[in-house]
Amino acid sequence: MATLAAHPLDFPAAQPEGFPLIENDPVFDPARHLQIETPEHITTLSDMGYSDEEIAQCPTDLGITSTFRILSDEGAACLLDVARQLSAYTRSNPRISRMVRGGAYQSRFLRDLCLSQDVSDMISTLCKTPMLPHSIPHQLGHLNYNPHEVGENVDKWHTDTLRVDFVMFVTDPNLVEGGEFEFYNGTKHEVAALKKDGKPLDPAKVVAAALPGPGYAVLQQGNMVVHRAKGLRAAGERITMVNGYVAADTRFEDFCRFDQLQIVDPEHVVATEYARHMAWVGRETLDQQMAGFEFGTDRAGMAAKLDHVAGMLANAAAQLRDESKAEIQHFGDE
Ligand SMILES: [Fe+2]
Repeated sequence: MATLAAHPLDFPAAQPEGFPLIENDPVFDPARHLQIETPEHITTLSDMGYSDEEIAQCPTDLGITSTFRILSDEGAACLLDVARQLSAYTRSNPRISRMVRGGAYQSRFLRDLCLSQDVSDMISTLCKTPMLPHSIPHQLGHLNYNPHEVGENVDKWHTDTLRVDFVMFVTDPNLVEGGEFEFYNGTKHEVAALKKDGKPLDPAKVVAAALPGPGYAVLQQGNMVVHRAKGLRAAGERITMVNGYVAADTRFEDFCRFDQLQIVDPEHVVATEYARHMAWVGRETLDQQMAGFEFGTDRAGMAAKLDHVAGMLANAAAQLRDESKAEIQHFGDE
């Protein structure tokens, strides 16, 4: 069966309030700013202990890659300049002390990098299925900044609110003490069970990514891999960028934690971005169903396909109507 692929969704033409453009925005030039290399190693979901049934629900069996290069020295310097300008807009939530989301509205450089076809092609190759830059703009170019307090973790143990993302160092990790990116070489169910019993994570399964320099990243299936960003052990600057992707093959059910996003993103943006994303997922799913049109008599099969889209959109609508607030989910600091 040929791979089905959704058409990419354009970045919104409208600009939300409260996201002014930065003053000195470099012009993104893929030829000068990208230096994409290949990771040496991929830890698969199977290596991490996930079952074949769980992996079949995922668009890729990729768990997490070893560190690989995405930006040239010049590209990394431009991104650092942009990230420092955006640091005036940091916000907090119960998981992360200082972060900027929605920077793709404020910097054309950041937006063009996050939407880069060259980078998306690399991500697709590593995932072995077509991947598109995330259709929710706040899932593009998320920036984490070190907390003002030395020792406080940048981000606690958690899984992501999206499926696939890369985490890239914007600052030079070799200029600071600490600030490691770590992942747990086990399943999220294992971590949840340990936490429920009040037990620490197995230190033998905690893996720290190698950090050669700015512009280097790991690619992960973030909703399946438990990971964290450690605090600095001495005063310094640590900035990372997380860019999200969605599978173009809509046979893999949409994964988007709107309940979590609405805690961290501004009220006047988060629901509209989610509604637009789901309208796109619905449209592309219907398009893909119609692309496979054949004459036949399988009424139950036809009904199931329509039910699938109707159910997905009804679920999204119910989430938009639900005014209860969830708590932000994480697995703590240790
Ligand atoms: Fe994360």
